[in-house]
Amino acid sequence: MLKGDVRCLDVVGSQWGDEGKGKIVDVLAKDADWVARYQGGANAGHTVRIGDDQFILHQIPSGILHPGKRCALGNGVVLDPVTFFEEIHELERRGHKVDGRVLVSSRVQLVLSYHKLLDRAQEASRGKGAIGTTGRGIGNAYEDKVARVGIRVADLAAPERLRELVEAGTARAQGKLRALASDTAVAAGQIYDELCGLAPRLLPMACDVGLALRKALDRGEKLLLEGAQGAMLDVDHGTYPYVTSSNTTAGAAAVGLGLGPTAIDAVLGVVKAYTTRVGSGPLPTELPPEQAAHLRELGAEYGATTGRPRRTGWFDAVVVRYAARLNGITALAVSKLDVLDPLPELKLCVGYGLRGERLEEFPADLAMLAEIEPIYETVPGWQSTTSDARRLEDLPSGARAYLDRIGGLTGLPIRYISVGTRRREIIDVEGSGAG
Ligand code: IMP
Ligand code: MG
Repeated sequence: MLKGDVRCLDVVGSQWGDEGKGKIVDVLAKDADWVARYQGGANAGHTVRIGDDQFILHQIPSGILHPGKRCALGNGVVLDPVTFFEEIHELERRGHKVDGRVLVSSRVQLVLSYHKLLDRAQEASRGKGAIGTTGRGIGNAYEDKVARVGIRVADLAAPERLRELVEAGTARAQGKLRALASDTAVAAGQIYDELCGLAPRLLPMACDVGLALRKALDRGEKLLLEGAQGAMLDVDHGTYPYVTSSNTTAGAAAVGLGLGPTAIDAVLGVVKAYTTRVGSGPLPTELPPEQAAHLRELGAEYGATTGRPRRTGWFDAVVVRYAARLNGITALAVSKLDVLDPLPELKLCVGYGLRGERLEEFPADLAMLAEIEPIYETVPGWQSTTSDARRLEDLPSGARAYLDRIGGLTGLPIRYISVGTRRREIIDVEGSGAG
Protein backbone atom coordinates (compact mmCIF):
# COMPACT_ATOMS: atom_id res chain seq x y z
CA MET A 1 0.00 0.00 0.00
CA LEU A 2 3.06 2.25 0.34
CA LYS A 3 3.09 3.00 -3.36
CA GLY A 4 2.41 5.90 -5.69
CA ASP A 5 0.94 8.85 -3.79
CA VAL A 6 1.00 7.03 -0.46
CA ARG A 7 4.33 7.95 1.13
CA CYS A 8 3.18 7.98 4.74
CA LEU A 9 0.85 5.20 5.87
CA ASP A 10 -0.54 4.81 9.37
CA VAL A 11 -1.49 1.30 10.54
CA VAL A 12 -4.01 1.32 13.40
CA GLY A 13 -5.89 -1.22 15.49
CA SER A 14 -9.64 -1.01 14.97
CA GLN A 15 -10.89 -3.10 17.89
CA TRP A 16 -9.39 -3.59 21.38
CA GLY A 17 -5.79 -4.12 20.34
CA ASP A 18 -4.06 -7.37 19.33
CA GLU A 19 -5.55 -7.19 15.85
CA GLY A 20 -2.30 -8.38 14.30
CA LYS A 21 -0.73 -5.00 13.52
CA GLY A 22 2.76 -6.40 14.13
CA LYS A 23 2.48 -8.88 11.30
CA ILE A 24 0.88 -6.38 8.88
CA VAL A 25 3.57 -3.79 9.65
CA ASP A 26 6.22 -6.46 9.16
CA VAL A 27 4.79 -7.34 5.74
CA LEU A 28 4.47 -3.69 4.66
CA ALA A 29 7.88 -2.68 6.04
CA LYS A 30 9.68 -3.98 2.97
CA ASP A 31 8.30 -0.98 1.03
CA ALA A 32 9.08 1.55 3.77
CA ASP A 33 12.28 3.36 4.69
CA TRP A 34 11.13 4.11 8.23
CA VAL A 35 8.82 2.50 10.76
CA ALA A 36 7.74 4.77 13.63
CA ARG A 37 5.78 4.32 16.86
CA TYR A 38 3.89 7.31 18.23
CA GLN A 39 1.95 6.33 21.39
CA GLY A 40 1.78 3.72 24.12
CA GLY A 41 4.80 1.92 25.44
CA ALA A 42 5.75 -1.49 26.73
CA ASN A 43 2.05 -2.31 27.25
CA ALA A 44 2.02 -3.19 23.54
CA GLY A 45 2.98 -6.68 22.40
CA HIS A 46 3.48 -6.99 18.66
CA THR A 47 4.03 -10.58 17.62
CA VAL A 48 5.95 -11.25 14.42
CA ARG A 49 6.87 -14.68 13.12
CA ILE A 50 9.75 -15.18 10.70
CA GLY A 51 10.15 -18.79 9.66
CA ASP A 52 10.09 -20.71 12.92
CA ASP A 53 11.35 -17.74 14.88
CA GLN A 54 8.85 -15.68 16.86
CA PHE A 55 9.50 -12.17 18.14
CA ILE A 56 7.32 -10.23 20.54
CA LEU A 57 8.21 -6.57 20.28
CA HIS A 58 7.04 -4.21 23.01
CA GLN A 59 8.72 -0.89 22.36
CA ILE A 60 10.80 -1.23 19.20
CA PRO A 61 8.82 -0.85 15.96
CA SER A 62 8.31 -4.10 14.03
CA GLY A 63 10.40 -2.66 11.16
CA ILE A 64 13.54 -3.58 13.11
CA LEU A 65 13.22 -7.14 11.75
CA HIS A 66 13.92 -5.84 8.21
CA PRO A 67 17.64 -5.25 7.77
CA GLY A 68 18.45 -1.68 6.82
CA LYS A 69 15.09 -0.14 7.71
CA ARG A 70 15.20 2.66 10.22
CA CYS A 71 12.96 2.91 13.27
CA ALA A 72 11.79 5.88 15.31
CA LEU A 73 10.03 6.39 18.62
CA GLY A 74 8.07 9.63 18.64
CA ASN A 75 7.44 12.02 21.53
CA GLY A 76 3.99 10.49 22.17
CA VAL A 77 5.54 7.22 23.33
CA VAL A 78 6.33 6.54 26.99
CA LEU A 79 9.64 4.69 27.13
CA ASP A 80 10.80 2.25 29.76
CA PRO A 81 14.55 2.64 29.23
CA VAL A 82 15.49 -0.51 31.14
CA THR A 83 13.29 -2.92 29.17
CA PHE A 84 14.05 -0.99 25.96
CA PHE A 85 17.69 -2.02 26.18
CA GLU A 86 16.71 -5.54 27.19
CA GLU A 87 14.67 -5.72 23.99
CA ILE A 88 17.60 -4.44 21.93
CA HIS A 89 19.90 -6.94 23.60
CA GLU A 90 17.53 -9.81 22.77
CA LEU A 91 17.20 -8.71 19.12
CA GLU A 92 20.99 -8.52 18.76
CA ARG A 93 21.43 -11.87 20.46
CA ARG A 94 19.13 -13.34 17.82
CA GLY A 95 21.12 -11.85 14.98
CA HIS A 96 19.38 -8.55 14.24
CA LYS A 97 21.60 -5.50 14.00
CA VAL A 98 19.97 -2.67 15.91
CA ASP A 99 22.86 -0.30 16.41
CA GLY A 100 22.45 2.98 14.53
CA ARG A 101 18.96 2.12 13.27
CA VAL A 102 16.77 3.47 16.08
CA LEU A 103 15.99 7.11 16.79
CA VAL A 104 14.23 8.22 19.98
CA SER A 105 12.63 11.63 20.37
CA SER A 106 14.37 13.80 22.99
CA ARG A 107 10.83 14.65 24.09
CA VAL A 108 9.90 11.06 24.98
CA GLN A 109 8.70 10.62 28.56
CA LEU A 110 10.40 7.96 30.64
CA VAL A 111 8.59 5.18 32.48
CA LEU A 112 10.43 4.50 35.73
CA SER A 113 10.22 1.70 38.26
CA TYR A 114 7.95 3.74 40.54
CA HIS A 115 5.38 4.13 37.73
CA LYS A 116 5.14 0.36 37.54
CA LEU A 117 4.88 -0.02 41.32
CA LEU A 118 2.09 2.55 41.39
CA ASP A 119 0.27 0.93 38.46
CA ARG A 120 0.17 -2.38 40.32
CA ALA A 121 -0.71 -0.88 43.69
CA GLN A 122 -3.55 1.16 42.15
CA GLU A 123 -4.92 -1.86 40.33
CA ALA A 124 -4.87 -3.87 43.56
CA SER A 125 -6.74 -1.08 45.36
CA ARG A 126 -9.46 -0.98 42.67
CA GLY A 127 -10.59 -4.49 43.62
CA LYS A 128 -13.53 -5.49 41.45
CA GLY A 129 -13.29 -2.23 39.51
CA ALA A 130 -9.76 -3.03 38.30
CA ILE A 131 -9.02 -1.99 34.71
CA GLY A 132 -6.83 -4.99 34.10
CA THR A 133 -3.82 -2.90 33.08
CA THR A 134 -0.66 -4.55 31.81
CA GLY A 135 1.18 -3.34 34.93
CA ARG A 136 3.77 -1.54 32.81
CA GLY A 137 3.29 1.86 34.47
CA ILE A 138 1.82 3.36 31.31
CA GLY A 139 -1.04 5.34 32.90
CA ASN A 140 1.22 6.64 35.66
CA ALA A 141 3.85 7.88 33.23
CA TYR A 142 1.20 9.68 31.16
CA GLU A 143 -0.23 11.14 34.39
CA ASP A 144 3.17 12.64 35.18
CA LYS A 145 3.47 13.97 31.63
CA VAL A 146 0.14 15.78 31.78
CA ALA A 147 0.86 16.98 35.31
CA ARG A 148 4.09 18.47 33.86
CA VAL A 149 6.36 16.63 36.27
CA GLY A 150 7.55 13.86 33.94
CA ILE A 151 11.16 13.08 33.08
CA ARG A 152 12.13 13.18 29.41
CA VAL A 153 14.98 11.68 27.44
CA ALA A 154 16.44 15.20 27.07
CA ASP A 155 16.81 15.39 30.87
CA LEU A 156 19.41 12.63 30.76
CA ALA A 157 21.84 15.17 29.31
CA ALA A 158 21.58 17.37 32.42
CA PRO A 159 22.64 15.29 35.47
CA GLU A 160 21.81 17.96 38.05
CA ARG A 161 18.33 18.54 36.73
CA LEU A 162 17.86 14.80 36.36
CA ARG A 163 18.75 14.25 40.02
CA GLU A 164 16.21 16.85 41.14
CA LEU A 165 13.49 15.40 38.91
CA VAL A 166 14.14 11.86 40.10
CA GLU A 167 14.12 12.92 43.74
CA ALA A 168 10.88 14.83 43.32
CA GLY A 169 9.30 11.98 41.32
CA THR A 170 10.35 9.41 43.89
CA ALA A 171 8.97 11.46 46.77
CA ARG A 172 5.64 11.91 44.99
CA ALA A 173 5.44 8.21 44.15
CA GLN A 174 6.32 7.26 47.73
CA GLY A 175 3.49 9.47 49.02
CA LYS A 176 1.00 7.91 46.62
CA LEU A 177 2.13 4.39 47.52
CA ARG A 178 1.69 5.15 51.20
CA ALA A 179 -1.81 6.46 50.54
CA LEU A 180 -2.53 3.11 48.87
CA ALA A 181 -1.34 1.35 52.04
CA SER A 182 1.75 0.03 50.27
CA ASP A 183 4.98 0.00 52.24
CA THR A 184 7.20 -0.57 49.19
CA ALA A 185 10.20 1.75 49.37
CA VAL A 186 11.39 3.61 46.27
CA ALA A 187 15.07 4.54 46.19
CA ALA A 188 15.82 7.74 44.29
CA GLY A 189 19.57 7.05 44.27
CA GLN A 190 19.14 3.70 42.61
CA ILE A 191 16.88 5.10 39.87
CA TYR A 192 19.24 8.01 39.28
CA ASP A 193 22.28 5.72 39.03
CA GLU A 194 20.46 3.43 36.64
CA LEU A 195 19.46 6.34 34.39
CA CYS A 196 23.02 7.72 34.44
CA GLY A 197 24.21 4.27 33.42
CA LEU A 198 21.82 4.13 30.46
CA ALA A 199 22.31 7.73 29.33
CA PRO A 200 25.49 7.10 27.27
CA ARG A 201 23.57 4.57 25.19
CA LEU A 202 20.24 6.41 24.98
CA LEU A 203 21.47 9.95 24.28
CA PRO A 204 23.18 9.10 20.97
CA MET A 205 19.77 7.85 19.71
CA ALA A 206 17.99 11.01 20.87
CA CYS A 207 16.95 13.69 18.40
CA ASP A 208 14.00 15.70 17.09
CA VAL A 209 12.11 12.78 15.52
CA GLY A 210 9.52 15.06 13.87
CA LEU A 211 12.32 16.89 12.09
CA ALA A 212 14.09 13.69 11.05
CA LEU A 213 10.88 12.26 9.59
CA ARG A 214 9.96 15.53 7.84
CA LYS A 215 13.39 15.57 6.18
CA ALA A 216 13.01 11.91 5.22
CA LEU A 217 9.66 12.65 3.55
CA ASP A 218 11.19 15.60 1.73
CA ARG A 219 13.92 13.29 0.39
CA GLY A 220 11.19 11.03 -1.01
CA GLU A 221 11.53 8.32 1.65
CA LYS A 222 8.52 6.33 2.82
CA LEU A 223 7.13 6.18 6.33
CA LEU A 224 5.13 3.44 7.97
CA LEU A 225 3.51 4.50 11.24
CA GLU A 226 2.76 1.72 13.70
CA GLY A 227 -0.14 2.28 16.06
CA ALA A 228 -0.36 0.38 19.33
CA GLN A 229 -3.52 -0.93 21.08
CA GLY A 230 -6.82 -0.23 19.29
CA ALA A 231 -9.58 2.36 18.83
CA MET A 232 -11.72 0.98 21.65
CA LEU A 233 -8.83 1.49 24.09
CA ASP A 234 -8.42 5.16 23.10
CA VAL A 235 -8.52 7.34 26.23
CA ASP A 236 -11.11 9.66 24.63
CA HIS A 237 -13.09 7.44 22.29
CA GLY A 238 -12.80 3.99 23.84
CA THR A 239 -14.77 2.25 26.58
CA TYR A 240 -13.68 4.74 29.25
CA PRO A 241 -12.48 4.17 31.96
CA TYR A 242 -11.56 0.70 30.68
CA VAL A 243 -9.03 2.11 28.25
CA THR A 244 -5.33 2.76 27.99
CA SER A 245 -3.92 6.21 28.78
CA SER A 246 -3.05 7.38 25.26
CA ASN A 247 -4.97 8.28 22.13
CA THR A 248 -4.73 5.19 19.98
CA THR A 249 -6.56 6.64 16.96
CA ALA A 250 -4.84 8.00 13.88
CA GLY A 251 -4.87 11.66 14.90
CA ALA A 252 -2.38 10.75 17.61
CA ALA A 253 0.19 9.83 14.96
CA ALA A 254 0.62 13.47 13.95
CA VAL A 255 0.88 14.72 17.54
CA GLY A 256 2.95 11.79 18.75
CA LEU A 257 5.59 12.17 16.06
CA GLY A 258 5.62 15.91 15.60
CA LEU A 259 4.38 15.75 12.00
CA GLY A 260 1.49 17.80 10.65
CA PRO A 261 -1.67 15.75 10.03
CA THR A 262 -1.46 16.49 6.28
CA ALA A 263 1.71 14.37 6.15
CA ILE A 264 -0.37 11.20 6.60
CA ASP A 265 -1.63 9.96 3.23
CA ALA A 266 -3.59 6.85 4.19
CA VAL A 267 -4.78 4.88 7.20
CA LEU A 268 -4.92 1.09 7.18
CA GLY A 269 -7.25 -0.30 9.85
CA VAL A 270 -6.36 -3.77 11.08
CA VAL A 271 -9.26 -5.95 12.30
CA LYS A 272 -9.41 -9.50 13.44
CA ALA A 273 -11.99 -11.65 11.61
CA TYR A 274 -13.60 -11.88 15.07
CA THR A 275 -13.10 -9.83 18.27
CA THR A 276 -10.88 -10.14 21.33
CA ARG A 277 -10.16 -8.07 24.39
CA VAL A 278 -7.71 -8.49 27.25
CA GLY A 279 -8.48 -6.72 30.52
CA SER A 280 -11.81 -5.56 31.93
CA GLY A 281 -14.61 -3.53 30.41
CA PRO A 282 -17.43 -3.84 27.89
CA LEU A 283 -17.21 -6.35 25.04
CA PRO A 284 -20.69 -6.44 23.48
CA THR A 285 -20.23 -9.56 21.31
CA GLU A 286 -18.45 -11.63 23.97
CA LEU A 287 -19.15 -15.36 23.66
CA PRO A 288 -20.50 -17.53 26.49
CA PRO A 289 -17.62 -19.21 28.42
CA GLU A 290 -17.46 -22.53 26.57
CA GLN A 291 -17.58 -21.05 23.07
CA ALA A 292 -15.23 -18.28 24.16
CA ALA A 293 -12.69 -20.86 25.30
CA HIS A 294 -13.00 -22.76 22.01
CA LEU A 295 -12.28 -19.65 19.92
CA ARG A 296 -9.46 -18.71 22.33
CA GLU A 297 -7.78 -22.07 21.75
CA LEU A 298 -8.30 -21.93 17.96
CA GLY A 299 -6.74 -18.46 17.79
CA ALA A 300 -4.12 -18.97 20.55
CA GLU A 301 -5.59 -15.87 22.16
CA TYR A 302 -3.27 -15.12 25.06
CA GLY A 303 -1.88 -11.65 25.76
CA ALA A 304 1.53 -11.09 24.16
CA THR A 305 2.65 -8.85 27.03
CA THR A 306 1.04 -10.46 30.07
CA GLY A 307 0.09 -13.98 28.90
CA ARG A 308 -3.46 -13.42 30.15
CA PRO A 309 -6.24 -15.32 28.34
CA ARG A 310 -8.04 -12.97 25.97
CA ARG A 311 -11.81 -12.64 26.01
CA THR A 312 -13.28 -13.59 22.62
CA GLY A 313 -16.38 -12.68 20.64
CA TRP A 314 -17.95 -12.37 17.19
CA PHE A 315 -17.02 -9.69 14.69
CA ASP A 316 -18.69 -6.42 15.69
CA ALA A 317 -19.46 -4.14 12.75
CA VAL A 318 -20.66 -1.33 15.06
CA VAL A 319 -17.19 -1.19 16.61
CA VAL A 320 -15.36 -1.30 13.29
CA ARG A 321 -17.61 1.35 11.69
CA TYR A 322 -16.91 3.58 14.69
CA ALA A 323 -13.17 2.92 14.39
CA ALA A 324 -13.32 3.67 10.67
CA ARG A 325 -14.87 7.06 11.31
CA LEU A 326 -12.56 7.98 14.21
CA ASN A 327 -9.41 7.02 12.32
CA GLY A 328 -10.39 8.04 8.80
CA ILE A 329 -9.55 4.50 7.73
CA THR A 330 -9.00 4.19 3.97
CA ALA A 331 -8.70 0.37 3.79
CA LEU A 332 -8.93 -2.67 6.05
CA ALA A 333 -6.56 -5.53 6.72
CA VAL A 334 -8.49 -8.52 8.05
CA SER A 335 -6.35 -10.83 10.16
CA LYS A 336 -6.63 -14.38 11.49
CA LEU A 337 -9.28 -15.46 8.98
CA ASP A 338 -7.84 -19.00 9.16
CA VAL A 339 -8.83 -19.23 12.85
CA LEU A 340 -12.47 -19.42 11.76
CA ASP A 341 -11.82 -22.29 9.30
CA PRO A 342 -13.25 -25.12 11.46
CA LEU A 343 -16.41 -23.36 12.65
CA PRO A 344 -19.70 -24.64 11.16
CA GLU A 345 -21.48 -21.33 11.64
CA LEU A 346 -20.45 -17.72 12.24
CA LYS A 347 -22.15 -14.62 13.51
CA LEU A 348 -21.62 -10.98 12.64
CA CYS A 349 -22.96 -8.22 14.86
CA VAL A 350 -24.71 -5.70 12.60
CA GLY A 351 -26.19 -3.36 15.22
CA TYR A 352 -27.20 -3.14 18.88
CA GLY A 353 -30.64 -3.39 20.43
CA LEU A 354 -31.36 -1.21 23.45
CA ARG A 355 -34.70 -0.96 25.26
CA GLY A 356 -36.66 -1.87 22.12
CA GLU A 357 -34.70 0.54 19.89
CA ARG A 358 -31.94 -0.16 17.43
CA LEU A 359 -28.58 1.55 17.96
CA GLU A 360 -26.25 1.95 15.00
CA GLU A 361 -23.52 3.83 16.87
CA PHE A 362 -21.30 2.90 19.79
CA PRO A 363 -22.63 4.54 22.98
CA ALA A 364 -20.44 6.46 25.45
CA ASP A 365 -22.35 5.43 28.56
CA LEU A 366 -21.15 2.31 30.38
CA ALA A 367 -24.64 1.60 31.77
CA MET A 368 -26.05 1.59 28.24
CA LEU A 369 -23.22 -0.65 27.09
CA ALA A 370 -24.06 -3.12 29.83
CA GLU A 371 -27.66 -3.31 28.60
CA ILE A 372 -27.24 -3.55 24.84
CA GLU A 373 -28.03 -6.75 22.98
CA PRO A 374 -26.01 -7.38 19.83
CA ILE A 375 -28.11 -7.99 16.71
CA TYR A 376 -26.54 -10.86 14.80
CA GLU A 377 -26.57 -12.11 11.28
CA THR A 378 -25.73 -15.82 11.08
CA VAL A 379 -23.73 -17.11 8.13
CA PRO A 380 -22.46 -20.60 7.29
CA GLY A 381 -18.79 -21.41 7.95
CA TRP A 382 -16.56 -22.74 5.16
CA GLN A 383 -14.93 -25.59 7.10
CA SER A 384 -11.89 -25.85 4.88
CA THR A 385 -8.40 -24.49 5.16
CA THR A 386 -7.57 -20.94 4.05
CA SER A 387 -3.88 -20.78 5.02
CA ASP A 388 -2.65 -21.73 1.55
CA ALA A 389 -4.64 -19.01 -0.21
CA ARG A 390 -2.50 -16.27 -1.79
CA ARG A 391 -5.18 -14.71 -3.98
CA LEU A 392 -8.80 -13.91 -3.21
CA GLU A 393 -9.83 -16.54 -5.77
CA ASP A 394 -8.06 -19.22 -3.72
CA LEU A 395 -10.44 -18.74 -0.77
CA PRO A 396 -13.51 -20.95 -0.29
CA SER A 397 -16.70 -19.19 -1.37
CA GLY A 398 -17.98 -19.09 2.23
CA ALA A 399 -14.88 -17.19 3.35
CA ARG A 400 -15.23 -14.76 0.46
CA ALA A 401 -18.88 -14.19 1.34
CA TYR A 402 -17.89 -13.53 4.97
CA LEU A 403 -15.28 -10.98 3.91
CA ASP A 404 -17.72 -9.35 1.48
CA ARG A 405 -20.14 -8.95 4.37
CA ILE A 406 -17.42 -7.30 6.50
CA GLY A 407 -16.67 -4.95 3.62
CA GLY A 408 -20.36 -4.19 3.12
CA LEU A 409 -21.10 -3.60 6.81
CA THR A 410 -18.11 -1.31 7.34
CA GLY A 411 -18.23 0.43 3.96
CA LEU A 412 -14.48 -0.14 3.56
CA PRO A 413 -12.39 -1.89 0.94
CA ILE A 414 -10.46 -4.89 2.25
CA ARG A 415 -6.89 -4.63 1.03
CA TYR A 416 -5.12 -7.41 2.96
CA ILE A 417 -6.26 -10.73 4.39
CA SER A 418 -3.95 -12.56 6.76
CA VAL A 419 -4.47 -16.32 6.76
CA GLY A 420 -1.72 -17.48 9.12
CA THR A 421 1.07 -16.29 11.38
CA ARG A 422 3.87 -16.53 8.80
CA ARG A 423 4.98 -13.64 6.62
CA ARG A 424 3.91 -15.35 3.41
CA GLU A 425 0.44 -16.24 4.71
CA ILE A 426 -1.24 -13.13 3.39
CA ILE A 427 -3.41 -12.06 0.46
CA ASP A 428 -2.92 -8.66 -1.11
CA VAL A 429 -6.25 -8.13 -2.80
CA GLU A 430 -4.74 -5.65 -5.24
CA GLY A 431 -1.55 -7.40 -6.15
CA SER A 432 -0.03 -10.78 -6.76
CA GLY A 433 2.30 -10.63 -3.75
CA ALA A 434 1.77 -8.57 -0.59
CA GLY A 435 2.94 -5.03 -1.02
P1 IMP B 1 -2.51 -0.17 30.31
O1 IMP B 1 -2.33 0.32 28.91
O2 IMP B 1 -1.45 -1.12 30.75
O3 IMP B 1 -2.74 0.93 31.29
O4 IMP B 1 -3.86 -1.05 30.34
C1 IMP B 1 -5.15 -0.49 30.12
C2 IMP B 1 -6.03 -1.44 29.33
O5 IMP B 1 -5.53 -1.53 28.00
C3 IMP B 1 -6.05 -2.88 29.86
O6 IMP B 1 -7.33 -3.42 29.59
C4 IMP B 1 -5.03 -3.59 29.00
O7 IMP B 1 -5.27 -4.96 28.91
C5 IMP B 1 -5.26 -2.89 27.67
N1 IMP B 1 -4.07 -2.90 26.80
C6 IMP B 1 -2.97 -2.12 26.89
N2 IMP B 1 -2.10 -2.39 25.91
C7 IMP B 1 -2.67 -3.34 25.16
C8 IMP B 1 -2.28 -4.01 23.96
O8 IMP B 1 -1.22 -3.76 23.38
N3 IMP B 1 -3.14 -4.94 23.48
C9 IMP B 1 -4.34 -5.21 24.07
N4 IMP B 1 -4.75 -4.60 25.18
C10 IMP B 1 -3.93 -3.67 25.72
MG1 MG C 1 -0.72 -7.11 21.11
